This record gives sequence, C-alpha cells and structure tokens, in this order.
Amino acid sequence: MTTPTIGVFDSGFGGLTVLRALVTRAPQARYAFIGDTARLPYGSKSRRTIARYAAQSARFLVEQQHAEYLVIACNTASALALDAIKEAVPASVSVIGVIEPGAEAARRASMTGDVLVIATDATVQSHAYAAACRAQGLRALEKACPLLVPLVEEGWIDHPVTAEVIRIYLDELLAEAAAAGLNPDVLVLGCTHYPLLKPVFRQMIPASMLIIDSAESAADKLVMYLCYDLGTPPPVAPGDPVMKFFATDSVEKFERLGSRFLERPVGNVELVDLGG
Ligand code: DGL
Repeated sequence: MTTPTIGVFDSGFGGLTVLRALVTRAPQARYAFIGDTARLPYGSKSRRTIARYAAQSARFLVEQQHAEYLVIACNTASALALDAIKEAVPASVSVIGVIEPGAEAARRASMTGDVLVIATDATVQSHAYAAACRAQGLRALEKACPLLVPLVEEGWIDHPVTAEVIRIYLDELLAEAAAAGLNPDVLVLGCTHYPLLKPVFRQMIPASMLIIDSAESAADKLVMYLCYDLGTPPPVAPGDPVMKFFATDSVEKFERLGSRFLERPVGNVELVDLGG
C-alpha cells in the first residue's frame, strides 16, 4: 500500500476538525470525507437510528470511495455505533473511533486520575467515555452540553451568549465534580464542534487543567495504524492533500461553514443520497 485512502465520517461538518488533524499528520494520504448533514444532529437521536445512519455512510466510503481506513470523527456515532459500523464493512478495513483515543490521551495527561468529559446528550447517555476512561483507570464525570452544537453551527464562536452558556455548563460540572469528591485535572472535548470553542474553555477552567481534544488523539491513532501497515511513518513532506468532500444536504452551507472547521477552503462538495 503506497497511498492509503482514508474515509472520514461525521454527522455534519464538525468532523472536519478531525480531518484537519489528520492532514497535518499524514498530508500525502487520500481523504474522502462525508458529512451526513441532512440528518444532523445525531446527538439527540436513538442508538438504533444513529447506527443505521452511520453504517450507510461507512458503506459509502468503503464501497464507493474505496477507503481502507475509516475514522469515525463523530463522537456520538463512535459512542453508539462503532460495532454497527465495523459490522457494515469488510474486516480488512481498520475502523477508528474517537472515544478510546480520547480516553487514552486523558490517561496520559491526568495526574489525579479524575477527568471531566463534555459531549452531546446521546454520547453522555451511552456512558461510552466513562467506560473508556474506566478501562484506563480513570474516574470520569460526563456532562451533556446540547446547546453548544447549534451555537457553533450558527457561527457564534466568539459570541458572548456562547461564552455565557459555556460558563453555566462548566460551573455546573465543576460543582458536580466537587460534590462527588473528584479532583479533575483534565477536560475532554467529546464532540466534533467543541475544539472550535477551545479558547473559550481555556479561559474558563483552572489554568492547571489540561484540555484533551479527541480529534487530535484519533488522528494520532490513525498515524500509528499507518506506520504499522506501511512499515514506516507516513511522509510529511508538505503538499496539498487529496481531499474529496461529500454531504447529504446543502453543499453551499457545507462549503461556507466547512472552511471554518478545516481551516482551509472547502470546495467541490458533492451531494450524495445515502437512502432512507
Ligand atoms: N458530530 C457530533 C459529535 O461529535 C456532534 C453533532 C451532532 O449531534 O450530530 O458528537
């Protein structure tokens, strides 16, 4: 395998934060990204629905875009549908979610063994992060922050309303942690959209608390897989990565908002129909 094809899936364009982390580490791979924008948000849906939607996107990336690796950028799909996705594609395809890499990074970062996780409703209700953190010997306190995805989608990154909402969520979370006798020193951003708000989180949490971005952790994990399969680290010589973009709804909106997440222009987005 010389130039691997990496499929990246998200419920929308938030997963472009994961693609951004991937292309920095492996710029010479080929990338196919699909955002299931027609059915966003996944964070308020049931496990059964999320699994069905995610399996359709995974099949599209493998069968039509020939992806050999799948990165499930969506935390909600990683939390509730990773097994369904693995079942939907051939066993030869390596499937990487964001939850385990996030928990592993939290373990490396935490001195106290207590971590905070913020995510969508569905991710929190699945307790996938708590389980993954427990497997790493950590205690995790999870909190759903359902207002943050729509605020980021609206482009209200530096908006005072967003800052106030974050303050309320964090105050509640820190109070719950104190009541539970936890001494957290790590905050895990367990949602594709939250890395855009990282500077706001940074200002509002204690200076000693570290922030883990599961997008970065998942990208590191993919590079480990590539190193193993290629027998050498993927070349990092600069060059324009080959990226194809697909969306299940408004291509125009994807191109306009996507560049904010990818931090480079997003063009030629193709509209696809994944079926019901
Ligand atoms: N991609 C989702 C996640 O990371 C956030 C958006 C949604 O709810 O679909 O959990």
